[in-house]
Amino acid sequence: MGFAILNGNIIDRSEAKVDVEDRGYQFGDGVYEVIRVYNGKMFTGAEHLERFGKSSDSIGISLPYRTEELLALLEELIEKNNLQLGIIYMQLTRGVSPRNHAFPIEKVAPVLTAYTKEFARPDESMKKGVPAILTEDIRWLRCDIKSLNLLGNLLAKQKAAEAGCFEAIQHRGENVTEGSSSNIYIVKNGVVITHESNNLILKGITKDVILELCLENNIPVEERTFTLEELANADEVFLSSTTSEVMPIVEIDDKKVTEGQPGPVTKKLQKLFQLEIENQCGKLK
Ligand SMILES: Cc1ncc(COP(=O)(O)O)c(C=O)c1O
Repeated sequence: MGFAILNGNIIDRSEAKVDVEDRGYQFGDGVYEVIRVYNGKMFTGAEHLERFGKSSDSIGISLPYRTEELLALLEELIEKNNLQLGIIYMQLTRGVSPRNHAFPIEKVAPVLTAYTKEFARPDESMKKGVPAILTEDIRWLRCDIKSLNLLGNLLAKQKAAEAGCFEAIQHRGENVTEGSSSNIYIVKNGVVITHESNNLILKGITKDVILELCLENNIPVEERTFTLEELANADEVFLSSTTSEVMPIVEIDDKKVTEGQPGPVTKKLQKLFQLEIENQCGKLK
C-alpha cells in the first residue's frame, strides 16, 4: 500500500484517515491535482502546484505550504513509494468542522492528503485512437476551479463508459466545452482549435504544454469557442490530459473521424509531447 501524505507528514497509507466531518468528504469543499510521474520524476510539477494554489485561493482556502516545500514533500513521497511510472493524487479540503454550509467561523486547519499510484501510459489507445460520445455540459459555471465536486463530470464519464467509449465530449448548446476529464481539440486545415481558457473549462496543464509546442513548431492555433458543426466537420479531433497525454479521438457517437485513424497533426503533437516529457524526465522506455 505504501506511504501517503497527511498534513505535511509522510505516514503509512493505511493510517492516512480523515474525519467524517471533513468538509471535503461532506460537501466536496476542496480542490485537487493529479500530477504525472515518469522515471520517478514529476512532469510539470511546478505548474500543477501553481494551479493547485489558484484553485484553493479562489475558494478561500490558503495553501498551508510554500510551493518548494510541497514539491520537496511530493518528491520524498515518490521516493518512499519507489514510484517510477504513475501519478500523484493530491487534495486540500477546508478542514474538519461541525456540518454547516457556511464556512467555519473559527479558524480551521485545511486538510492536505496525497498518495501515489502506478499508472501505465495508454500506449495502445494513443496509437489507435479512442471513441467518444457527445453530451450536454450540465456543470456549474466555475469549471476553471479544480474542485472536488465532480458529479457533472462523473455523470458524463459514466454515460461514455456505458456506451463503451473513452470520453464524453461536453457541449453547452451548440458550443463544445471540454471532455469529462480532458480538454478537446479539433484540427481544421492544419489549424489546431481549442476552447479558450475561461470559466467554462479547466485550463489543462497538458493543454498549456501542447499550445506551447504548437507555438515553437509553427503549428497554427486558435483558442476560441467552436461549435458542434465544426466538430462534425473537423479533419482531426483529439483530447489531452495528464494521464491521456495527446489522445486521438477517432469516433464520435458512432461516426468515424479521420476515417477512424489518428490524423497527421495529432501524431506530430504526440511525438513533440513525448520529446517534452523526455526533456523534463529523461528517456522513456
Ligand atoms: C474537466 C477537465 N478538463 C481538463 C482536464 C485536463 O487537465 P490536465 O491536462 O491538467 O490534466 C482535466 C483533467 O483531469 C479535467 O478533469
